[in-house]
Amino acid sequence: MPIPERLKPAFAPARPTEPDRLPEARKRLIVALDVPSAAAADDLVARLQGTCQWFKVGLELFAAAGPVVVETLAARGHSVFLDLKFHDIPNTVAGAVRSASALGVRMMTVHAAGGPAMLAAARAALDGLADPPQLLAVTVLTSMDAAELQFAGVDRAPADQVALLATMGLAAGIRGFVCSPQEVAALRALTGPEGVLVVPGIRPEGADAGDQKRLATPAAALQAGASFLVVGRPITQAPSPASAAEAILKEMAAAIAS
Ligand code: C5P
Repeated sequence: MPIPERLKPAFAPARPTEPDRLPEARKRLIVALDVPSAAAADDLVARLQGTCQWFKVGLELFAAAGPVVVETLAARGHSVFLDLKFHDIPNTVAGAVRSASALGVRMMTVHAAGGPAMLAAARAALDGLADPPQLLAVTVLTSMDAAELQFAGVDRAPADQVALLATMGLAAGIRGFVCSPQEVAALRALTGPEGVLVVPGIRPEGADAGDQKRLATPAAALQAGASFLVVGRPITQAPSPASAAEAILKEMAAAIAS
């Protein structure tokens, strides 16, 4: 005889907990190594050893230390995001993308504002590679608000400009984008689940905004649909970078679990 519905034990589905989700959070946090030398980068990476796995090399460190800093990080088993935001004619950007991919990076950026031909050339430069890095188009810098955009000749609101650039990028075959936390939900709707959305402008509750204008907490950015979070100064300028990173990872893990 079948057991009546009301007598069946109510097994609540096991909810993932925050500690369960820490490894996933670790895979989705990228630390921006915005430091002036290879020695400073080495020091920071050593302090974050075992806590963080992704590191972003941007213009400051690359200009100071060159490709060797990227190759060293990759050779030590770290995942490297090379954030040089290429913006030039299609042929030049395609060549730069090819050169950068040879350094063993896992992600790299070009500026979406370079236009459809430049984006298509950047994407095509990775065709045929066995394990190509994720190409990301930077939409609107997180340091820009509507007033800054207007000075640069753009009359649209930041959110509208981001949507315009992302739609253009998608048409050029780009599937990864950098955007602020404030546009990530709209971009997720545009790209669907396959879109790789990398989000800087992250500040834990109470942290100093610095020059960033379009901001959110780690939890809010993940809940809005971010694939990866980029965090610089809240970790790198903390008295203990590892403790600051752990706190952010915990917040991320709780957001992922919920
Ligand atoms: O220190 P902070 O957390 O503000 O660092 C953010 C990092 O993300 C910086 O390295 C910056 O270059 C980068 N970035 C950004 N806005 C973008 C793209 C990249 O802030 N749109």
